[in-house]
Amino acid sequence: MQILFLGAPGAGKGTQCKMLARHLDLLHLSSGDLLREAVKLGTAAGVAAKSFMDKGVLVPDSILIDMFREKLHTPECQKGFILDGFPRNVAQAKALNELFEELNRKLSVVVNLQVDQKLLTERICGRRICSNKECNAPYHVKFAPPKEENVCSLCGAPLTHRSDDREELVAARLKTYFEQTEPLIEFYDKQLLLRTVDGEGDPDEIFADLLRTLKVLA
Ligand code: AP5
Repeated sequence: MQILFLGAPGAGKGTQCKMLARHLDLLHLSSGDLLREAVKLGTAAGVAAKSFMDKGVLVPDSILIDMFREKLHTPECQKGFILDGFPRNVAQAKALNELFEELNRKLSVVVNLQVDQKLLTERICGRRICSNKECNAPYHVKFAPPKEENVCSLCGAPLTHRSDDREELVAARLKTYFEQTEPLIEFYDKQLLLRTVDGEGDPDEIFADLLRTLKVLA
């Protein structure tokens, strides 16, 4: 299966994709995680991407397209994957279609995680993430707190606060989303691939709804 997630910043894409990847034993490919890793490692792509990420705007298409071309050709993607955060505009979506042709694969479904805009800022600003790359578990200071403050309940590593999860950057990230990414809802709806899932409420209930929508309930 090749699944793509759409949704505003803070809609819960990362949270639901991680649960789905475990459930279906698929690879979870998050564009944001790949970019943050490239920044941390100081690769050419990471150095080029950082100033755009710091402003809450899209990184140039060519960086993302090259990154995903390389990733999707690796053997670990053979069993299927979940795309989270790529594509993020129509040009990237067209490039992804070409990539799928190269790979002789098709998108199975596009999930649009729908959350009211008023909730997004609170979700983003309260987010904390496990600093252990292998774990990477998401938390929220109010909605999903760890058992011990600032410590991952799963692996014991310290939690981190993403540098772009500041209130002053959230407006820019949302503006970028509504101007450039939201048009993809119509783009994929026209291809009859779109399924909308309500992203508000308890994460486990959203996940159950997601499985029902995808008809992959175990
Ligand atoms: P990226 O890392 O992709 O960020 P994003 O799209 O802004 O998405 P988020 O990670 O903020 O939200 P999410 O939907 O995954 O929410 P989560 O599950 O964590 O991108 C960062 C930057 O990289 C971009 O600004 C851009 O510069 C660049 N970039 C990335 N892709 C690009 C591309 N294709 N092209 C160009 N540039 C690109 O949940 C959020 C919080 O809410 C968490 O704390 C979680 O615990 C909590 N939560 C989740 N679900 C619930 C729930 N049901 N109830 C209550 N709380 C919940």
